Amino acid sequence: MKILTVVGARPQFIKAAAVSRKLKEFGLEEVILHTGQHFDQNMSQVFFDEMEIPVPNYNLNINSLNHGAMTGRMLEGIEQILLKEEPNLLMVYGDTNSTIAGALAAQKLHIPVAHVEAGLRSFNMNMPEEINRILTDRISNYLFCPTQTAVQNLKNEGFSSFNCRIENTGDVMQDAAMYYGARSAEKSSIVNSLNVSSPFVLATFHRQENTDNPKNLVSIIESLNQIHAEMRVIVPLHPRTKKIVASQETPVKFDVIDPVGYFDMVELLKRCALVITDSGGLQKEAFFFQKPCVTMRAETEWTELIDNDVNVLSNPENSNVYDAWKLMLSKKPNFSVNLYGNGKASERIAQILANI
Ligand code: UD1
Ligand code: UDP
Repeated sequence: MKILTVVGARPQFIKAAAVSRKLKEFGLEEVILHTGQHFDQNMSQVFFDEMEIPVPNYNLNINSLNHGAMTGRMLEGIEQILLKEEPNLLMVYGDTNSTIAGALAAQKLHIPVAHVEAGLRSFNMNMPEEINRILTDRISNYLFCPTQTAVQNLKNEGFSSFNCRIENTGDVMQDAAMYYGARSAEKSSIVNSLNVSSPFVLATFHRQENTDNPKNLVSIIESLNQIHAEMRVIVPLHPRTKKIVASQETPVKFDVIDPVGYFDMVELLKRCALVITDSGGLQKEAFFFQKPCVTMRAETEWTELIDNDVNVLSNPENSNVYDAWKLMLSKKPNFSVNLYGNGKASERIAQILANI
């Protein structure tokens, strides 16, 4: 069984790291194709260096283009490699342009597709990610869902009558958080280098609806400034956000740092008092490391976090993130519920693939 894995963006390297290890254990051959979507050292290479992911066999170096151009060029490049490698299956993760390009290239060649993180929905079609998810799910043969909610979303859309296999495997990010979380203390020195002592907020933002909407962007910067006056705010900033923040006029008073590797991120997660983010992955990691979270969006795919009161939505367009921060600080959330499986999602995926 030869699997061709397509990755391209930061969260995919982290998820693929967890699954790759298990594919190997189950004796499955994996060829890794990096589309090049993320390309800075600290957005890409650092994860391959630190997390023992096999070096990509191919790198298409396709990035920094409009959605259509990026996805189209990836489709063409991935097709060439599929024709050469003739894998038995193509594996994709999440909801990025690399995800849909990989799935589409394979399905057009009648190569079965496995989608990890299937079934997630924000029900907001303005998000490029929502379009990528829905289309990828529809053309995938193996839909590996992180939660029962994701399974139900697919059922609601009629997937039970499509020619595909739907499995609730649990969340591979939980596997990654547990595995790398057990190793981060000896690998990371960020707590010393940032002189982190008192309680602090770990924040990130990069979603198009926040960065490309000046009203949201200013609202986020002002709220984080206001919080920073009371509790230090540390923001590893996505390069795209960094450029946009630099080109606007609202002063930034919180601590901006470059994106960090996963071991550093896990140490920051372990040490922080609270997380504020618009990232999908970070919302769950806040939960894994038992930190309350404020999500700077109108909706989230990870609805169980909201239902369990460990996370609150605060849409920067019409609400104050500062108030949401105050609210979450005053709560004592219950983190003992099991929302994302038992850290064995990657094993389950490998087991299923080994038996097809
Ligand atoms: C992409 C995903 C998003 C995911 C995010 C993870 C899509 C549509 N979006 O968003 O779902 O949450 O990755 O982080 O696929 N840039 C750099 N260096 C890099 C990477 C990006 O400078 O290493 C800059 C470039 O100017 C680039 C811009 O960021 O044009 C946007 O990058 P892109 O990959 O298109 O989208 P993300 O915002 O990273
Ligand atoms: N992350 C990281 N370094 C950073 C910022 C994020 O390692 O400087 C990790 C984070 O811990 C999570 C993943 O990147 O595992 C989330 O990626 P991102 O927020 O870029 O994308 P999303 O999950 O929103 O698609």
